[in-house]
Amino acid sequence: MREDASSFVPKDRILPVLRDAVQHCRGCDLYRNATQAVFGELETGAESTKPSVAIMMIGEQPGDQEDKQGRPFVGPAGKLLDRCLQEANIDRSKVYVTNTVKHFRWEPRGKLRIHKKPSMKEIHACRPWLDAELETVRPKLIVCLGAVAAQSLLGSKFKITQSHGKVQRAEGVPPIIATLHPSAILRARTDEDRERDIKIFLEDLRQATEFLKK
Ligand code: URA
Ligand code: SF4
Repeated sequence: MREDASSFVPKDRILPVLRDAVQHCRGCDLYRNATQAVFGELETGAESTKPSVAIMMIGEQPGDQEDKQGRPFVGPAGKLLDRCLQEANIDRSKVYVTNTVKHFRWEPRGKLRIHKKPSMKEIHACRPWLDAELETVRPKLIVCLGAVAAQSLLGSKFKITQSHGKVQRAEGVPPIIATLHPSAILRARTDEDRERDIKIFLEDLRQATEFLKK
């Protein structure tokens, strides 16, 4: 048997079915230390078997809050994402938000659970879930938030710093625009850095809306 999620992914391309099934995934070891799997969702929380989705936003993996609440981008990074989507006039009901890896990888630091970047093996193992989401949601455009999502779809040589905001093509997936990860923006060392990053992020989101108008 291959060491990935494929044997756990149901054939049905229906979001609620996939979302239930991901809780039973043992495609890699990350389920062991996580509270639950966090599947993608429409930001409105709307359930629909055939959603009409313009953008699929792909982050890295659930964080501490997401792991506890079972929903993507509900912690500090999610708050920033929400604000920026609003500012960019992106209709949130048309945005499906998910992660490259569905279980939280962390290491303890005192009482805190500190985010640990998923390994290539885990990213690869979790890919069948992302593929199932893409087949179900069929977005017109993918927006990759940060290097993990971007490199998993565009290859390990892809550099956000060089190519953010530009439409990328990869075989078998919708067009992709990569941009900064909201968590990276929150980690900026100075206020000036953070403001600059937010500007870049908003400009990349604007590129996304421009693309969708075509
Ligand atoms: N960071 C991510 O990449 N995804 C989340 O869901 C939350 C924080
Ligand atoms: Fe399955 Fe992905 Fe969770 Fe690993 S991280 S157990 S592949 S859902």
